Amino acid sequence: MKVRIRDLDGCPISGATVETWQANGQGFYENQFPDLQPDCNLRGIFSADRAGQVHYVTVKPAGYAVPNDGPVGQLLGSIGYVPRRPAHLHFIVAADGFETITTQIFDGADPLIAEDALFNAKPDLVGDFLKEVAEDARVRWSLDFTFVMARAANPGGNRDDEDRTVRICRLALTGALRFRHPGAERCGGSRGWGAKRALVLSTPNQKGDAEALASRLGDIAAGVFAEATMHTPLEVTEQALAAFKTSGADCVVALGGGSTIGLGKAIANAHWRRTRW
Ligand SMILES: [Fe+2]
Repeated sequence: MKVRIRDLDGCPISGATVETWQANGQGFYENQFPDLQPDCNLRGIFSADRAGQVHYVTVKPAGYAVPNDGPVGQLLGSIGYVPRRPAHLHFIVAADGFETITTQIFDGADPLIAEDALFNAKPDLVGDFLKEVAEDARVRWSLDFTFVMARAANPGGNRDDEDRTVRICRLALTGALRFRHPGAERCGGSRGWGAKRALVLSTPNQKGDAEALASRLGDIAAGVFAEATMHTPLEVTEQALAAFKTSGADCVVALGGGSTIGLGKAIANAHWRRTRW
């Protein structure tokens, strides 16, 4: 795997941080089968070298099915959608003075490339895996992908704990689902994202960050529900629904990725017939 990080002028961004995670060759993340894959398998954080590049060796990921035994499966089934995802690798690319990129890179040769259940496989995010066959007949694949970063509107942050909290907020608020009851009073205010009280969702590992985010939100925070897991079981979803109801929240902030976003969607769909993104 070769990752290049460039600015809009094509100049390398040395020191950029590249965080990545992916499924294995059978389409499973390590936390789905903790007895079969070591902790943090196929997850890593790298720093770009002076040429703005990161090289590492991994396995070629396979696509996978979205489990359909929970609310997300029911939702996809109800619209007749095949719950599968083409092979991909996840990335968060960050550098001081630049807008953080959170995205996925897809295998363009995957036969399901045009049918991503999460609608993420856009042409700009499709990579071209190259096949090499060694003399001993072993097959190796390589992928060379360039991320182009835009300058941040407010450069100079992200250096200390205070800024890290700000970054968490920004990630959560820009990447989050923001659902509002259609009958609720429109709420602009200085935050400008239309919520009166927000329940913060996270995984158990991110509970500390979620509590920091709730603290940052101040009296708009309605509490933290930190039990989201990948492919969240139905009983945990029901616990989250109950927590949302008793918290008096009118909004969900999802800190993290698919687990919390999926849980946020489930809460929104359970409570309101209309959702607002
Ligand atoms: Fe994934």
